[in-house]
Amino acid sequence: MDHAATREEALARIAAAQDLGALEGLRVEFLGKQGSISGLLKTLGAMSPDERQVAGPQIHALREAVTEALGARKAALESAALEAQLASETIDLSLPAPEAPRGTIHPVSQVMDELAEIFADMGFAVATGPEIEDDWHNFTALNIPESHPARAMHDTFYFPDKDGQGRDMLLRTHTSPVQIRAMLQQGAPIRIIAPGRVYRSDSDATHTPMFHQVEGLVIDKGITLGHLKWTLETFLKAYFEREDIVLRLRPSYFPFTEPSVEVDVGFALVSGPDGKSRRVLGGSGDDPGHGWMELLGSGMVNRKVIAAGGLDPDEWQGFAFGVGVDRLAMLKYGMDDLRAFFDGDVRWLAHYGFSPLDVPTLSAGVGARA
Ligand code: PHE
Repeated sequence: MDHAATREEALARIAAAQDLGALEGLRVEFLGKQGSISGLLKTLGAMSPDERQVAGPQIHALREAVTEALGARKAALESAALEAQLASETIDLSLPAPEAPRGTIHPVSQVMDELAEIFADMGFAVATGPEIEDDWHNFTALNIPESHPARAMHDTFYFPDKDGQGRDMLLRTHTSPVQIRAMLQQGAPIRIIAPGRVYRSDSDATHTPMFHQVEGLVIDKGITLGHLKWTLETFLKAYFEREDIVLRLRPSYFPFTEPSVEVDVGFALVSGPDGKSRRVLGGSGDDPGHGWMELLGSGMVNRKVIAAGGLDPDEWQGFAFGVGVDRLAMLKYGMDDLRAFFDGDVRWLAHYGFSPLDVPTLSAGVGARA
């Protein structure tokens, strides 16, 4: 029996297979369990030894030839597919790079990073506390008892339900509760700043219901107002990158500090090209053409607050301050409407935002813009 015809036909069909799927179909047709060539192999068993001696090598040769042809065609089809893919995926390297979407760092984040960098240099760590607070941490422990008018002054957002200890829950109205949490958690001495979001029911061009503060707290032995003044001066000179920053300390009142000090910063009135005058920080507010601008609240930590923090006020003293981060950003980078900070307008963000690579460092200048 001659298999030449079978062989010719098989090889021709294999050569004509247009894709890997068709080729696999042929493999099954010829060499699969029920395949035609597998069928021929099975006939060997029923043959006489003489017949088998003739037919055996022929059938095996047929199988060999078909197997080889299948392999060769498969390799050819695969390399053709690869060629086609490579051809379709070419890119023109002479074209300009496509516009890559690029985010910016919000000025509030940038200023918080600048503050962390400046205060780290003075040995301050960054602390945080919850935005959802209880009225003990936000008020009572800060010497603002229930009937105190300061509670009403804070325009607090309350939650309908109390916490497990029967305390009223609220959105913190300032970062000062972090003072209490820091004292209770780490004991003394303490040097921290606590940046974060605070909430008050208030809204106009300079007030938004959510804004940002940074709290500063130092607790140690023998701390005086002098330390407070030096710290604020050093911080503000580094932040505004000017040596001529002049501060004025005025007596004030906060329940959690005693004495309390309102800090003003001197500015010059400079008329711009549009004829409008702008305030530029620097110089004494008492000089001609200058004025004072209220900047932050501070004072020596009240003995009652130190006691609420679990420390002995005869042993430990300290100072604290609180300042609006958004306001610091506006003064340094020249925005005039606080509400725009939180509108999420990409044009505003593209204009006032910072490059993600522009990480504030003291050596490069904390306010460097890429
Ligand atoms: N917590 C005060 C406020 O929000 C600011 C402040 C902080 C004042 C620390 C004194 C000391 O107005």
